[in-house]
Amino acid sequence: MNIRHFLASVLLCLATMAYADEFIRVSTKSTDIVFRVSGNGRLYQSYMGRHLADEADLKHLPHGTEAYLTHGMEDYFEPAIDVRHADGNASTLLTYVDHKQETAADGSRHTVIRLQDKEYGTQVSLHFSAYADEDVIKTHTEIVNGEKKPVMLEKYASSMLHLTGGKYWLTEFSGNWADEGHMSTAPLNFGKKVLDTKLGTRANMFTPPMFILSVGEQATEDHGQVMLGQLGWTGNFRFTFEVDENDDLRLISGINPYFSSYELGAKETFTTPEFYFTMSYEGLSRASRNLHNWARKYQLKDGQKGRMTLLNNWEATYFDFNEEKLCNLMGDAVKLGVDMFLLDDGWFGNKYPRHGDTQGLGDWQETANKLPGKVTKLVEEAQKKGIKFGIWIEPEMVNPKSELYEKHKDWVIHLPNRDEYYFRNQMVLDLSNPKVQDFVFGVVDRLMTDYPGIAYFKWDCNSPITNIYSHYLKDKQTHLYVDYVHGLYNVLERIKAKYPNLPMMLCSGGSGRIDYKALSYFTEFWASDNTDPLERLFIQYAYSYFYPAKATCAHVTTWNSGTSVKFRTDVTMMGKMGFDIKLSDMSQNDLAYCQEAVKNYRRLSPVILDGDMFRLYSPYNGPHAVTQFVGTNQQSSVVFAFNTYPRWGERNNPVLLKGLKPDTRYRVREINMMPGAKSNLGCNDRVYSGQYLMNVGLSLLSTRKITSHVLEITAE
Ligand code: DGJ
Repeated sequence: MNIRHFLASVLLCLATMAYADEFIRVSTKSTDIVFRVSGNGRLYQSYMGRHLADEADLKHLPHGTEAYLTHGMEDYFEPAIDVRHADGNASTLLTYVDHKQETAADGSRHTVIRLQDKEYGTQVSLHFSAYADEDVIKTHTEIVNGEKKPVMLEKYASSMLHLTGGKYWLTEFSGNWADEGHMSTAPLNFGKKVLDTKLGTRANMFTPPMFILSVGEQATEDHGQVMLGQLGWTGNFRFTFEVDENDDLRLISGINPYFSSYELGAKETFTTPEFYFTMSYEGLSRASRNLHNWARKYQLKDGQKGRMTLLNNWEATYFDFNEEKLCNLMGDAVKLGVDMFLLDDGWFGNKYPRHGDTQGLGDWQETANKLPGKVTKLVEEAQKKGIKFGIWIEPEMVNPKSELYEKHKDWVIHLPNRDEYYFRNQMVLDLSNPKVQDFVFGVVDRLMTDYPGIAYFKWDCNSPITNIYSHYLKDKQTHLYVDYVHGLYNVLERIKAKYPNLPMMLCSGGSGRIDYKALSYFTEFWASDNTDPLERLFIQYAYSYFYPAKATCAHVTTWNSGTSVKFRTDVTMMGKMGFDIKLSDMSQNDLAYCQEAVKNYRRLSPVILDGDMFRLYSPYNGPHAVTQFVGTNQQSSVVFAFNTYPRWGERNNPVLLKGLKPDTRYRVREINMMPGAKSNLGCNDRVYSGQYLMNVGLSLLSTRKITSHVLEITAE
């Protein structure tokens, strides 16, 4: 140890002694996390749970477990951080330096706790932003290399949290293309459960970075302690849930360290992604509303603005369209009464026209014989018709059959010495390379410069990273997964800065890429290519735990066209509504129904998109699904009730509504009726007190298969 290190250690020891047994509290309205600076100078998490009203109680808390566990010391469970120091030593021992708490610009309470390794100078700062009213905490970590030479970060968690309660249940979400959002719940016993992905770009194709964790007992919608957790990282993530020998749970969240050892130069800082979570002690329903409220206010792009209804041409035409067909479809959009026409894949490429998914990706010029008037003509046509125009892009990808690939093969992630492997006939551009970042930014920038009338982008991402090798990163291949995502954020940051009012849909062959960091750049996400309404009931239900209706795009299509257009439309109305259908596939009655539904949606979208959501019946639990939205001041509410495959003799109980004012009288009206149809609900057009609606309920469910009812409930 040289003299500087010695002096630094003495100062650190003095600081540590001064703060011995100090408590640091990260609090929201309902939750406290309490950290203890112990006599040995190390930081422990003593508590996480319900808010503790009396500060004097803190001293009685158990000692706790090392807050941000390091590799190589005396706790043998999974560490949050593992640093290979320049001398090859792989141990890290962190002691407390100081902490600061202040109110941030967005009103959240920001706590930063600084820790340091006396021997190596490694600094670790634990950041927490507590959103008191929404009961949401976001947390991340900064790691500074205090050495004179580079070190290797082998593990670098965003967050480590310790839960006690003895019993835990984890709900995970799994799936695949057109099969997203399968929820399954299992108890966590001794040992580790890992949720992770290694897909790079379409990172969440098999599982999104979110989980539900029940503590103590298995939470229901209205009972139990439950945590909803979400990592803001648009790439490989990993959650590790480890139950130790005391039945305590250690939860580590962050970037997946798989093939991602990260070299940190002298004095450089590594900032991890943010982990967002809420704790509820009243079950899942409250937890979801916490996240929805927080997201709309602080995280989701344009979270407090409205959303545009649209007609998309993907399923109506696939690649087979020309200017005339598109103009006709715009006419359909006008007839439906939606706000926008969205042109999907297939509009670009000349040497290799994009007439299918095998070629053209990367060549972002309009196909001359398909669109002779270019995008100009389409924007003008939309403007003439009084609607907005949006356009699809997939700017991170390339088909090997493209001019881009021919010109810039070094921009493509591919192994120099092996055959290429394609996913949907395409490959991923290397966004770790700043030139590629410029190119991807340029795709949006060029379109917006040439056609400022473009009002919306659908940003797709259909391939995971295959053939993992960056020609730009050379000997730092293990940086690729991480630097790719940083490159993507650079691009999205530039777009947001230059076009702050441009709404964009996040799409990845469905919802193969979805997280709250991405949603700070995107206003909404495409929940699934599967638009069969029966499937969508499950998929949208699963996403509703984390994302408000405003963020969740749902379109009426011809998937499962054996179901009525009413059933299909009613399902989409629980999200950000759109259509992807030709009016020629609809009868006059169906069209009239949709027109009416669009009008209703326009009137009710403040309730559906910005209101409180209550899941009343889960499609996972039986042949019905019911969701209710309640608007501000509990003046209006909308209920969506679906019967899927009830049995013939099934007896149904009334549906008890939630979130209303007991003393207010509400008129109940069934809306979204087929032309000429009359409501068969006894409650239609009657007035009830909120108390009645919440305690006696309404008979909304029946044994009529694949039927639905939408109720508008208005305070008198
Ligand atoms: C996958 C998306 O999920 C679809 O909606 C559509 O945009 C296609 N890509 C286009 O290739």
